[in-house]
Amino acid sequence: MKTLQIMSAIVGFVLISMTSCYYDVEEELYPTTNNTCDTTNISFATDVTAILQSNCLFCHNKSANLSLGGGVDLEGYDALKVYVDNGKFLSSITHDGNASFMPKGGGNPKLPDCEIAQITAWINNGAPNN
Ligand code: HEC
Repeated sequence: MKTLQIMSAIVGFVLISMTSCYYDVEEELYPTTNNTCDTTNISFATDVTAILQSNCLFCHNKSANLSLGGGVDLEGYDALKVYVDNGKFLSSITHDGNASFMPKGGGNPKLPDCEIAQITAWINNGAPNN
């Protein structure tokens, strides 16, 4: 009888420890986009423009930049290239301290890591107009 009690105590303990560990596997519950972040062949026309469109052009398009974007025009390759070349574009999204933190907003929001990685890859690749 004693042996049975000890056995059930052990089995119970093992079961509890197993279930308590189950929810600790954060990667499986919340797969991060980093695992699938593709930084190869980043294109200006599709990838970079889409990121700008969603996060920056509201303030930095050809007309709105004058009132909302501090006169910084980022619409189109030639306009953006100015800020690629002077380093402000990358600094602004990596928050390295050499430019104002972008996208602008309360709490200093930052682009998702994957989008920063894709833009960085595009610039390191010579910022091609493709
Ligand atoms: C809500 C409006 C708004 C949004 C959205 C926004 N910006 Fe800006 N941005 C500004 C304003 C205003 C300035 C000028 C004042 C300043 O530097 O803070 C500026 C300045 C800049 C500068 C020049 C920084 C410097 O230090 O000279 C860059 C580069 C820039 N933005 C890039 C971006 C990028 C890239 C995004 C998107 C990821 C973005 N901005 C989103 C409003 C915005």
